[in-house]
Amino acid sequence: MSPEPAARFTLPHPRGESVLWGGSGALAAAAGELREWVAGRRLFLLSTPRVRALHGAAPAPVRAAAAAVVELSAPDGESAKEPAEAIRLWREMAAHGGRRDSRLLCLGGGSLTDLGGFVAGGFLRGIEVAHLPTTLLAQVDAAIGGKTGVDLPEGKNLVGLFHHPALVVADTAWLGTLPREALRCGLVEAIKMAALLAPELLARIERDLDRLLAGDATALGPVVAAAAGVKAAVVARDPEERGERALLNFGHTLGHALEAAAGFGALAHGDAVAWGIRFALDLARERGWAADLAPRLTALLDRLGVPPLPPLDGAAVLAALQRDKKATEAGVRWVLPERLGQGRWGIVLPPAGIAARLGPFLAAGAAPARGL
Ligand code: GLY
Repeated sequence: MSPEPAARFTLPHPRGESVLWGGSGALAAAAGELREWVAGRRLFLLSTPRVRALHGAAPAPVRAAAAAVVELSAPDGESAKEPAEAIRLWREMAAHGGRRDSRLLCLGGGSLTDLGGFVAGGFLRGIEVAHLPTTLLAQVDAAIGGKTGVDLPEGKNLVGLFHHPALVVADTAWLGTLPREALRCGLVEAIKMAALLAPELLARIERDLDRLLAGDATALGPVVAAAAGVKAAVVARDPEERGERALLNFGHTLGHALEAAAGFGALAHGDAVAWGIRFALDLARERGWAADLAPRLTALLDRLGVPPLPPLDGAAVLAALQRDKKATEAGVRWVLPERLGQGRWGIVLPPAGIAARLGPFLAAGAAPARGL
C-alpha cells in the first residue's frame, strides 16, 4: 500500500500564520516554502549530536538557499532545556552576527523545539523560527502551537513564552530510527488529543496500534497528519490557552508533577502523561463521567506497555503539583474527560482529596503488575 501524501494546514495566530506539513514526504512537499523562508538570510541551524548523526542531511536543500549557515548544537534530551543553554545559544547567535531577519531552524525532538522556540522568541525580541520535528511526540504536539520554554529545578517549562513557528514540517520518514519507547511516548500525546477532540483519530489509533508501535510509516503518516490538523484547529481558536487549548493538557497536571518528583529525564514525558491520564480518569469516574471513554482509554494504555512508575514520594509529587505552571491563585487546575470527544478544563479540586488519592495511586503504579 503506498503511503497517503503529506497534508498541509495553516494555523492563524495573533502575529500571523504558521504553515504545518505532516505525513509521508512532508519535507519534499514543503521544500519550496522552506527555501523561500530562508532565501538570502543568515540561517541558524540548531540540532543535537544524535539527531545530526541520523538526519543531518535532511535540511540540505534549505541550507543551499540561505546566504550563510551557522550550525548550533544543544544536548540530546531534556537537558537541552536548561536556561544556561538558551543563554549560550543567544551569545553564539550574537557573536555570529544574528539580525532581526535571521532565521532559526530546529531539527530535533520536542525538547529541542521547546528550547529553539524560546531562543528564537527571546533573541532580539523575536526572530522567526521553523521546526523539523524528528520524534513522534514533537510531530503530533510539541513543535506545533508556539509553546516554548526551559526548565527550572522547581519545575518543567516554568520559564517560557508563546512564539509561533513560521513553518513546521513533520516528515514521518524521520520516525524510522525511533526506539519503541519514543513511539509509545508520542502516541500517548496523540491519544490524549484524540480522546477529547477527535474520536475518529482515537478509533484509528486503536485499530493500528501494533503497526504504530512498530514504526510502520504507512500507519504513522495519517496519524501525524490528523493530529497536526486537530492541534492546528484548537490553537487557531485559542492561541494562548485562555480556554479550550487547556484540553491539550489532559494527563499533564499529574504527569508534570511525576516528572519533577522523579527528577527530570528519569521518567519519559509520554510515560508520565500516560499515568496522568489514568489518574484523571479516576477523578472523572468519581464524578460519574467518562463511562464510555474510560474503558477504551485504559485498554489502549494497557496495550502501549507503559512501564511501572519508579518509587515516588507522595509529598514530593504533591509539592510539585502545587508548583504547576497552570495553577492559578485558586489552586491546581485539572482537565477531566466528561465523555468521548468532550472534556472540561480549569477544574480546581480540593488538595486534601488529591492527597488522599495520590498515595494509593503511586503505590499501585509502582508495583510491576501495574505497568500500563
Ligand atoms: N502541548 C500542549 C499545547 O501545546 O497546548
